[in-house]
Amino acid sequence: MTRTLRYGVVGAGYFGAALAHAIAGLPNAEVTAVFSPRHADELAEQLGCGTTSSVEELTAAKDVDVVVVASPNHAHVKPTLSAARHGKHVFCEKPVALSYHDCDAMIAACTSVGVQFMAGHIMHFMDGVRRVRNVIADGVIGDVILARAARTGWEDAITGPSWKKSREHSGGHLYHHIHELDLVQLVMGQARRVTMSGGNVAHRAAGFGDEDDLLLATLEFDENRFAFIELGSAFRWPEHYVLFQGTLGAVRIDLQNVGVEVRSTSGNWSFPLHRSIEEDAERTREYRASSSGGGVTYGSPSSRPPGWLEGLIEREVAHFHRLVRGGPVPVEFATLSDGSAARASIATADALRLSLQEDRKVSVVEIGG
Ligand SMILES: NC(=O)c1ccc[n+]([C@@H]2O[C@H](COP(=O)([O-])OP(=O)(O)OC[C@H]3O[C@@H](n4cnc5c(N)ncnc54)[C@H](O)[C@@H]3O)[C@@H](O)[C@H]2O)c1
Repeated sequence: MTRTLRYGVVGAGYFGAALAHAIAGLPNAEVTAVFSPRHADELAEQLGCGTTSSVEELTAAKDVDVVVVASPNHAHVKPTLSAARHGKHVFCEKPVALSYHDCDAMIAACTSVGVQFMAGHIMHFMDGVRRVRNVIADGVIGDVILARAARTGWEDAITGPSWKKSREHSGGHLYHHIHELDLVQLVMGQARRVTMSGGNVAHRAAGFGDEDDLLLATLEFDENRFAFIELGSAFRWPEHYVLFQGTLGAVRIDLQNVGVEVRSTSGNWSFPLHRSIEEDAERTREYRASSSGGGVTYGSPSSRPPGWLEGLIEREVAHFHRLVRGGPVPVEFATLSDGSAARASIATADALRLSLQEDRKVSVVEIGG
């Protein structure tokens, strides 16, 4: 395909704007329309494109071939279903949905009309994560028997908490920060049984949302393998890492003091998480300067992503653009590119939520995953 692909962007805040600018920089791509209750005019002016007055108008537009969904988490379903109805490809930000039911319906709607659906699971594009997957696939750390991950920090009260702090609109830390759960399952496969404890233990006053601020999730996999994930904003000692423990060694992705370290019977070594040591250092500085610890810091419509994140966004949209233009799907991106990684992570998140609600161990098949 040589013709220019025309993109419509739904949601013109922090990430919608970043995605739109990255798309505008791709060869054979242009952003032709923006829909967003706020910030649409600014973004459209920057890109020299039009705005629409509704999601439906954008998805139906003749000069839109692809829809980028970057609205708040609860508002991903409607634009995706509408895009599929009009035969448009979809790139949907994470978490793609706040229930397995919606996620399944969104992917099925796209698949049934033969359009692409890809989730914005951006960690797949980190150079260090790609290397970690190869290290593990090559057997360097043996059989992975345990994954541990944390994305924690502390939040102070803010004036008028954003949608990102509301259970109904973001799904809370479990859904909003789905990246680590997704990465654990990318390496270990679909969790079978899960338990979750926690609640809102330290943020009940005015100035906070209603999300749970301390979540402790345990995942069980086939063949006696396990994972444990800590999430939330009630942690005065912030942590952000993913660690895989194997029978011959271990590999730790540090997203705070940024870098990747391998320790194995065949030796110890390290490599950058991002494209360069400089990008890793940039993120490390950013985390150190953040009052919340970095992992639970949120962008706002008036901010632009840092360089390391902009680079990732560029690689992510370039992959999606190639896919829509009929390019091959590299094996490493197969589950990302057909929606199954998104489906698997939302299934597990739903099972964890049910476990917390009903105070019991939940099998993921109860959800449908
Ligand atoms: N992949 C990542 O690393 C990453 C990082 C940040 C955000 N995100 C995701 O991007 C999405 C947007 O987050 P953000 O940080 O840009 O939020 P934001 O608050 O900065 O912007 C949200 C935008 O959506 C618009 N909006 C509100 N309701 C809408 C609706 N019903 N339909 C369409 N637009 C609506 C708002 O006017 C605003 O312009 C979320 O799903 C978030 O999880 C992903």
